[in-house]
Formats: sequence, C-alpha cells, structure tokens
Amino acid sequence: MKISSLEYISTIKTSGTIGSSSKHLINKCLKGLNFNEPKIILEFGMGNGCITKEILKKVNQDTTIYSFETNPKFYKYSKNKFKDNCNLNIYHTSALNFDKVMKAYSINKVDYVISSLPISLFEEADTNLLLNKIKRYLSVNGRFVQYQYSLNKHGLFKSLFKEVKVDFALWNLPPAFIYNCRITSLVKQNSGNALIPIKSNE
Ligand SMILES: C[S@@+](CC[C@H](N)C(=O)[O-])C[C@H]1O[C@@H](n2cnc3c(N)ncnc32)[C@H](O)[C@@H]1O
Repeated sequence: MKISSLEYISTIKTSGTIGSSSKHLINKCLKGLNFNEPKIILEFGMGNGCITKEILKKVNQDTTIYSFETNPKFYKYSKNKFKDNCNLNIYHTSALNFDKVMKAYSINKVDYVISSLPISLFEEADTNLLLNKIKRYLSVNGRFVQYQYSLNKHGLFKSLFKEVKVDFALWNLPPAFIYNCRITSLVKQNSGNALIPIKSNE
C-alpha cells in the first residue's frame, strides 16, 4: 500500500499540512533527546510514520513507543509498515485519549512526548486538556516536543511549562517552529557543575 501527499492535502482540516515532515524538521525535533537508555515515548499524530521511523533508528531496544493517529488510512499504512517492530504500539484513537492507554499499562510517567498534532486546528478546550494531561504525565527530566507552522501557541506553552525552547526549521514545507518544553528547569548546584532539575510550582 502506498500513501502520498494527497492524503495530507485531502484531509488538511485534520492533518493540518500538505505533506510529511522533512528530514531537517525531524532532526530538529529529535535534537537533544537522549535515546541511549530505555524510555517511554509517546508520539502524537504519526501520519505516515516519518518521525516514528527516525525515532526507531535511535532508541534503546528496551524503549517502548506508543503512537496515536486518528486518520484511518495513515493508521492502516503505519500499522502495516511497522508490523515487525515490537518496540512500537500504534493506536487508532485521538491523542487526547493517551491517558487511557497509559492507565491500561499502569504507566504514570513518560519520558518524551513528540507531537506533530495540528493543535492550531483544535478547539481551545481540547488543546488545554491535552497540554495539561501531557504536563501531568511528563517525568521530571522529560521533554514535550511539538512543531507548529506559527508561534500562536508560544504564550500558552510558556504559561504551562517551566522551560520552553523554540527552534526553527526553514527547510520544510511549510517552515516550522519546534517547541521543546520541560516541566522543570535545570539549575547548577552550588557544590559543583552538575545540573539538577527544579520543578515548577503546580
Ligand atoms: C501535521 S501531520 C504530521 C504527520 C507526520 N507525523 C509528520 O510529521 O509528517 C498531523 C497528523 O496528526 C493526525 N491527527 C490529527 N488530529 C489527531 C488527534 N486528535 N489524535 C491523533 N492524531 C491526530 C493527522 O491525521 C495527521 O496525520
């Protein structure tokens, strides 16, 4: 089965884009994430699995990835594409339901949330619900990575997360901003150079 940019374009109201992410954007999304140790990773809006594929190339063999996709064609395509990969669980449901899946596996904390969801198209209440759930599940050293074609959620992200770094990927259609968020910020301990995480006030 093949899947083309036409699927993104014909579903633009839910995909929010005209094609899959470029390697340049994907590299920027995954930059700075540590894949050496076992991790629990959530991926939201997997589409044709272009980011999933790059994550899988990097991860430790004991890492588990839970990917969420609502579009039935992308879901079927990705399910088939990654059928032999035992690190990856794919769900045909909204990322908004990720906490139900986590509860089913008795998972309370996750290391990375990598999202390409078109949050600009979401209802405000859904965006808030999702971001608050992410915040609740993110571990102290965890990261939430989200790309967007505008900076219209920057203020919201800054109000919710202790640290929000923004990068820009020019070589993507359209060019995209990448938010890299933490629930803590790293500070230097008096006694040495080690960076320790300081959690935000809830
Ligand atoms: C911008 S595309 C990203 C696709 C791919 N990850 C990439 O970077 O090229 C957004 C994807 O999110 C999916 N999506 C939209 N709303 C969703 C939701 N609530 N839960 C899960 N996936 C969703 C769309 O169907 C689409 O495949």
